[in-house]
Amino acid sequence: MLSETSQPPSPPARLFARLNPGVTLERSATGGVSALFDGRTVEFGTFGADVTERAADFETGVAFDGERDAEMSELVRRLALYGLVEYRLARGPSGPDLIVVEPQMRDYAPRMIEIDEDRPLALSRFAYMRRRGADLVLESPRAMALFRLCDPSVTAMIAHLSEARTVKELRDSADFPGVELLALLLDGQILFTPGPGADKALRAAEGDGDLVLWDFHDLLFHTRSTDGRHANPSGGLYAHADLAAPPPAVRPSWPGPAIDLKTLETAPPSAFATLLRRRHSTRAFDERRPITLAEVARLLDGAARIISREQAPHEDHDEPELEVAPRPYPSGGASYELELYLAVDRCEGLARGFYHYDASRHALVLIETNEHWLTAMLEDAQFAMGAPAVPQVLVTMAARFGRVSWKYSGFAYALVLKHVGVLMQTLYLMAAEMEIGACAIGVGDIDLFAKMTGLAFHVEGSVGQIAIGRGVQSDSTPVAD
Ligand SMILES: Cc1cc2nc3c(=O)[nH]c(=O)nc-3n(C[C@H](O)[C@H](O)[C@H](O)COP(=O)(O)O)c2cc1C
Repeated sequence: MLSETSQPPSPPARLFARLNPGVTLERSATGGVSALFDGRTVEFGTFGADVTERAADFETGVAFDGERDAEMSELVRRLALYGLVEYRLARGPSGPDLIVVEPQMRDYAPRMIEIDEDRPLALSRFAYMRRRGADLVLESPRAMALFRLCDPSVTAMIAHLSEARTVKELRDSADFPGVELLALLLDGQILFTPGPGADKALRAAEGDGDLVLWDFHDLLFHTRSTDGRHANPSGGLYAHADLAAPPPAVRPSWPGPAIDLKTLETAPPSAFATLLRRRHSTRAFDERRPITLAEVARLLDGAARIISREQAPHEDHDEPELEVAPRPYPSGGASYELELYLAVDRCEGLARGFYHYDASRHALVLIETNEHWLTAMLEDAQFAMGAPAVPQVLVTMAARFGRVSWKYSGFAYALVLKHVGVLMQTLYLMAAEMEIGACAIGVGDIDLFAKMTGLAFHVEGSVGQIAIGRGVQSDSTPVAD
C-alpha cells in the first residue's frame, strides 16, 4: 500500500557518465583524448578545451545532458561503444547513486523521456531482480541496459509498480525516489505504459502482438544464450577450470550386466551409415573454387524446400485449424518456423549479398542491407571457426517464433532450438553427400541480424548458423570452438 504522507520536493536527479573501474582517460596538449584499459590504449579523437578539462571528472561522473552538450555527448558515446562507461543517476555530483545504468548494447545511451503524470505505468512482465556479487540488479531481456539498484527507495518503488499506477499516485509514496528514475526505466523498457483500462490484461497491453506470445523464460533464454543483447562474458572461457576437473569424454559404465552388440555386426554399414560417418566439419574453404549457385540450389532443395501445403490433422475438434508446410526434416507440431537467410561472400553465379531463401517458391530473394553489417556477420563466423577466411556462404536460421509459441506454452523456445539441431544435421548431411564443406556456428549476434533485416528480435530472429563452401583439399584446421 502507498503511504498517505507527502514528501518535501527534493532536487531533481541527473545522469552522470562515469568511467568503469580500471579505465583511465588521458589528454594530449592538442586536445586528443585516449583511454587506457586492459593494457591497451584507444584514441577517441580531438575535443575542445571545455571537454578535455572536464575529462578528469569522468572518474566520479560527468553531468550528461545529451542534446545540450553535443561535444561531451559525442565523447561519452564513443567511450560507451567500447563499453567503458556506466551512467549513475544521482541528485548532484557528490550525491549517492540512486541507480547505475550498465549499457548492454553498443548503441544504447540512457534517456529520460517525457512522462505524462496522469498516464499509468507498470513493471514489464519481463523485468526481474537478482543478486550479482554484492549488488542487486534489475534486468529484462527487452532492456538494452542493466540497472544496479543502489537505494532502497528505488526497490520499493519498483515493487509498487506490479500494478499500473500513475506518477501522481506514486508521488504520495513515503519513499518516492523521483520522476527522473521513472523516465529512465520507461526508456529502458523496464516499465511500460499500459494505456487506459488495461489493468486486468497487462500482458496483452505490453509491446506488440508478437511480444504477447513470448513466455518470460523463453525471451530471457533467447537473449542471454546468444550474442548481441547483453554484455556478459561468453564463449569457450574455461571459467570453471580452477574449480573442477573436466567431465570425462565418455561416461563411466553402469555396473550391471552388458549385452555386447558387436557380436551382431554381420552386414557392412549401409550407404547412409557410411555418409553419417563421412560427415565432418569444414572450416577452411577453397578461395579459387567457390561453391556454385547450382550447388546452393541443390543443397536447399534437398534440406529445406517446402514439399507441400496442407491442413494439419487435429484429433480434437475444439483445436484451431492450422495450415502446415512440410519440409524434408521433422518439426514439432509441423511448426516449420525456421527460415533460411544466406550471407554470400563468394558463390559462382550469385553476387555477394544477403538473401532470403523463399522455401515455397524455391527462390533466393535479395535483401538490401548495409555492406558493413554483411562483412561483420561473415567475419563473426570466421572468428567462431578460427578460420583463415570468411565462409563462402553463411546460412542463418531465423525462427518465426510465433509459429511455435502461438500453440505451445512453456517449452516453445526449447522446441525452436531442437529444430535448429535437426535442420543443422540435415544441412550437414546434404553437404556431405554433395562433397561440399559445412561447419555449424555455435553463437550468432541476434542484434546484427535484426539490423540487417529490419525485423524486431522477438518477431523473427537468428537462432542458428552454418557455414557452407567448397573445402580445401586437406582440411586440417583444428577445432576452434
Ligand atoms: C551446435 C554446434 C555448434 C558448433 N559451433 C562451432 C563453432 O562455433 N565453431 C567451430 O569451429 N565449430 C563448431 N561446431 C562444430 C564442432 O566443433 C564439430 O561438430 C565437432 O568438433 C565434431 O567434429 P566434426 O563435425 O568434424 O565431426 C559446432 C557444432 C555444433 C553441432
